[in-house]
Amino acid sequence: MAEPAPSELDAGSSLAVSLRGVTKVYDSGVAALGPLDLEVNRGEFVTLVGPSGCGKSTALRLIAGLAAPTAGTVSVSHLAAEVRGHHSIGFVFQEPTLMPWASVRDNVRLPLKLAHAPTSEADARIDEALVQVGLAEFAHAYPRELSGGMKMRVSLARALVTDPDILLMDEPFAALDEITRFRLNNDLLALWRKLHKTVIFVTHSVFESVYLSQRVIVMTARPGRIGAEFRISATEPRSEEFRTSAEYAGFCRQVSNALAPAYAGQAGA
Ligand SMILES: Nc1ncnc2c1ncn2[C@@H]1O[C@H](COP(=O)(O)OP(=O)(O)O)[C@@H](O)[C@H]1O
Ligand SMILES: [Mg+2]
Repeated sequence: MAEPAPSELDAGSSLAVSLRGVTKVYDSGVAALGPLDLEVNRGEFVTLVGPSGCGKSTALRLIAGLAAPTAGTVSVSHLAAEVRGHHSIGFVFQEPTLMPWASVRDNVRLPLKLAHAPTSEADARIDEALVQVGLAEFAHAYPRELSGGMKMRVSLARALVTDPDILLMDEPFAALDEITRFRLNNDLLALWRKLHKTVIFVTHSVFESVYLSQRVIVMTARPGRIGAEFRISATEPRSEEFRTSAEYAGFCRQVSNALAPAYAGQAGA
């Protein structure tokens, strides 16, 4: 059964996403999320940080229209809604989920193929997306020939290829080594500045959340609600200098302290 799509925000709205009184209780009876009220401005970079199982992925799935809320309303910008079904909301998962038998190019082509985009237009968009993620030279490579970081870049190109209004990223760099992760953090920020996308990013890393975001939302333990919110009013653009600054350490400490109660009740914490 198709899930009911999120509703559409007014064309004049400065919001990209609005959640009002949203809860999600799975059929199993697990209360995964909410009630949650969240507004994300167009062009904003917001990160949800919280312990494993607090409902972060559930929140992204609701925004993407991949699942329906049990209560409350999920609304997305008219731009994202307009071409919904054509992947106007880009989704990047922790696993790159590439087709092993297909080239980088054909992996990136998938959403355009599903949207029945004309081939010449698709080819141009694929080229552009591969340039954006720095993989132009690997268009004809196969996933088995790529490093973990490069596979994630392919996954990002596949999310960008439809030029989505909103980019949802679910712990995309969690499985990567630290240096690769830092590089991808920087490249993602450069893309965000250039492309003016709305990014909703999920991580359980406090350090990553502060480095990337304009706003960090700290979630409580399940069912996930907003425990605290921080505006990361640090200098832009962020750089490796920021990563080692006292300012950065200060923000990380604040977020960490706010997150502590969410871990308090967990076994092994
Ligand atoms: N499809 C599902 N059916 C039943 N329970 C689910 C489903 N997806 C997630 N859950 C449960 O909902 C809770 C929140 O899951 P999730 O949103 O994946 O958390 P997170 O991404 O923060 O780790 C967990 O307890 C998880 O086991
Ligand atoms: Mg998750």
